Amino acid sequence: MYNFLSTLAQDILNSNFGIEPDVTWEYSSDGDKGDASTAVALQVSKKAGKKPQEIAQVLCDKLAEDESVERAEIAGPGYVNVWLTHKALLKSLNSTREACIAQVKRDEPPVIIDYCGPNIAKPLGIHHILPHVIGQAIINIYKHQGFNVIGWSYPGDWGTQFGKLAVAFEKWGEGKKAGDCSVEELLDLYVKFHNEVENDPSLEDQARESFKKLEGGDKKMHMFWKEVVKVSEENLKNLYKRLNINPDEETGESFYQDKMDPIIEEGTKRGVFIEGEGGALIAEFTEESGLPPFMMKKSDGSTLYGTRDLAMIRYRIDQHHPQAIYYVVDRAQSLHFRQLFETCNKLEWELPELEHTVFGRMSFGDKKMSTRKGTVLRLEEVLDEAEKRAEAIITERGDEIQADDRSELAEMMGLGALVYGVLSQNRKMDIVFDWDKFLSFEGNSAPYLQYTHARTKSVLRKSEQEEFVMPSDIKELADKERSLLNLLLQFARVLDEAREARMPHILTNYLYALCQSYNTFYNSEPILKAEEQTRSLRLSLTSLTASVLKTGAELLTIRVPDRM
Ligand code: ARG
Repeated sequence: MYNFLSTLAQDILNSNFGIEPDVTWEYSSDGDKGDASTAVALQVSKKAGKKPQEIAQVLCDKLAEDESVERAEIAGPGYVNVWLTHKALLKSLNSTREACIAQVKRDEPPVIIDYCGPNIAKPLGIHHILPHVIGQAIINIYKHQGFNVIGWSYPGDWGTQFGKLAVAFEKWGEGKKAGDCSVEELLDLYVKFHNEVENDPSLEDQARESFKKLEGGDKKMHMFWKEVVKVSEENLKNLYKRLNINPDEETGESFYQDKMDPIIEEGTKRGVFIEGEGGALIAEFTEESGLPPFMMKKSDGSTLYGTRDLAMIRYRIDQHHPQAIYYVVDRAQSLHFRQLFETCNKLEWELPELEHTVFGRMSFGDKKMSTRKGTVLRLEEVLDEAEKRAEAIITERGDEIQADDRSELAEMMGLGALVYGVLSQNRKMDIVFDWDKFLSFEGNSAPYLQYTHARTKSVLRKSEQEEFVMPSDIKELADKERSLLNLLLQFARVLDEAREARMPHILTNYLYALCQSYNTFYNSEPILKAEEQTRSLRLSLTSLTASVLKTGAELLTIRVPDRM
């Protein structure tokens, strides 16, 4: 949005000092520093062989000659602060309006984002919300900006858990068919297996046997497996609908069963895979890497999680020729991904950019949250609870809250609070779960954002106007208007930053600041009662704020109400 300023400054530096550096303008929220400031004079001083102040002075003088610049001043050791004319500021706002519109998908190699990846046959725990919503938010931002993205779920639908479940069905299933069971019933049997195994360790062997049968293509086991997968998928579908999770592609671990052999063969031929202890097949790494061997086959010949992940990289490269693959996965799997990527390097594959897009662990302020009866707190229950808590708050607030449909609002607010609570935290740190903070009306939270959006909509409704036309020029900008306007101007840049860093909290922080700025403006300046030009400016700013809040929230998978 300051592109024209960058070009201007570049031209000035070129004609006066013969240099052509990149010039970046920072926005400052502090009115004393103008609308934009740059440190370029300090950065190029050495190269130009001039004092920073001298360069800054030339910049100021020449910039001030441009019709979009009201004034330019030197600050500190050589910063240049620029105040733009009202006209230039208002014109720049078009970039914000454009940033609210989803761009058309470009024809380019895709970015694959690996996310979700729940292990099937067990219900999702609360911590599963992390790979789902962090991944989906990142995907949404990429897509919004026109990237060719494949959001790819990789459910764990293969492994000994199916053997355990089969044994449990046989022993305690009372003749029920897996296909007729609910996920809860499947979980109960799974838990029962784990309890019984304490007394009878031979159950483990039976489970392994049963899984081996599945791997060997046993018909009955295969049917059982299919039924379990189907039950889990039905349940997942529901959850995904509630959370606005929409993978573009899904391949379970089972899909890679027949895609590992060629890779094993290739790696063995190239000497990358060698025999390890007890006849296992491993990849070894250099001592400097500090990585322990990566197991490709166990001594009994069976393949592993890592083998399947390796086969999946090959598959993705062959099928899609991606420019990058990002894995939105728990920090606990750091070692796995380092080994996996290093193995690809050793195989000398031509690789896209590979990144483990880590997130931290979920931690609970409230001890009661973390476990219950020895099992993890189920995601579905937490979603229900979020809605219930939101409903209680809405009831408590009584007439203060206006909604067309209070239960729909409770759903929007409860789920939004949970999702926003997760996404507003730096994903690389531990994510703290805190109901009070998540559901607060005053803080960096979904209810605050939703409330502010409803407020903008209410102003717009009361104006009884359909369209809002920004005046092309105005005589004066109040401080609060100027800050709001400057913040609105940042939207496109914030989306870029959030995408490039794959950090959704950059977007939530911005939306929070925008809500604060709008509310300060709302509380200090009359909007509907202002005189004509000012009224139209303020309504336009309100309408743009509404669009940015809604666009931003929806990218984060959160819905916002028109009334609240
Ligand atoms: N199913 C795995 C788990 O629950 C997560 C999958 C992550 N993605 C991957 N490509 N390994 O731990």
